[in-house]
Amino acid sequence: MSRGLPVAGAPFPAGRPRRLRRTPALRRLVAETRLHPAELVLPVFVREGIDAAVPIGAMPGVVQHTLGSLVDEARRCVDAGLGGIMLFGVPEAKDARGSGADDPGGILNVALARTVEAVGDDLVVMSDLCLDEFTDHGHCGVLRTDGAVDNDATLERYASMALAQAATGTPVLGLSGMMDGQVGHVRAALDAAGYTDTAILAYAAKYTSGLYGPFREAVQSSLVGDRATYQQDPANGREALREIEADIAEGADLVMVKPAGPHLDVVAAAAAMSPVPVAAYQISGEYAQIEAAAERGWIDRDRVMMESLLGIRRAGAQVILTYHGLDAAARL
Ligand code: PBG
Repeated sequence: MSRGLPVAGAPFPAGRPRRLRRTPALRRLVAETRLHPAELVLPVFVREGIDAAVPIGAMPGVVQHTLGSLVDEARRCVDAGLGGIMLFGVPEAKDARGSGADDPGGILNVALARTVEAVGDDLVVMSDLCLDEFTDHGHCGVLRTDGAVDNDATLERYASMALAQAATGTPVLGLSGMMDGQVGHVRAALDAAGYTDTAILAYAAKYTSGLYGPFREAVQSSLVGDRATYQQDPANGREALREIEADIAEGADLVMVKPAGPHLDVVAAAAAMSPVPVAAYQISGEYAQIEAAAERGWIDRDRVMMESLLGIRRAGAQVILTYHGLDAAARL
């Protein structure tokens, strides 16, 4: 009889996995996956023209910051040992081309400069590089006369936005618009202007998702309809690898999968093939689901929070963007 096969009459000869689950010390010894605050990035919102932070209804515990409260939050991230912070701007005025996005006096650029000045190298400051918060139609790009999002005209706007953001000293730009060729175009613009050290985090595989709902409240989005002509179809996995390969070839320094929870297979596939670090974004709706169920007493918030982050980490994400960043770090 070959070794490893059950011996007749002896129950469970192949092993008793429960032996290693018996005590907390044993479980800690054999844990394959650990979370660390340095891998977590906190997304934050900063709104123009307010003098006190405004709570976001669909994201309990998350607010639209003033410039002052944003800097306080960034300092809390430093104290908690977080890896980074990602800034989203909520401008007072919007127009068709998203003029506030590349205006050096626009809310996002001012906030980036203030945050970089406050935290220096103690925290990696990241930008959202996209037009949707700044356009009156709410799309991630500029529109053609027929109403479709104009890919190549949008690339020009992204390049201009990238230069404005790089000028604030922001070390990592998060390209989230899902236009074809955006990474290569922005990389070339940065290099030509001498910003060769500014890194690109590419939202390489960004799916169109109902889970963005609470974010749209957070940034007071004016979007009517959806983003299905530029964000990926949740039905497709192969396409995600094509997007990731293209972004890496165009010069992405990190690639990201988003949303995280429904697409853990894509996170795992990205981790298996990517030569650059892989990030995953646990988005607003994933956060809201946990908070809403916990509020009703249906789940234990902290347990589900940690379990969901552990699952994303185990799937292969090296960096996790999560609105629970500070709460999770406090438990590590
Ligand atoms: C685009 C962008 C969005 C999010 C991050 N970057 C909105 C969208 O694609 O509709 C969503 C993040 C979240 O839901 O937490 N600027």
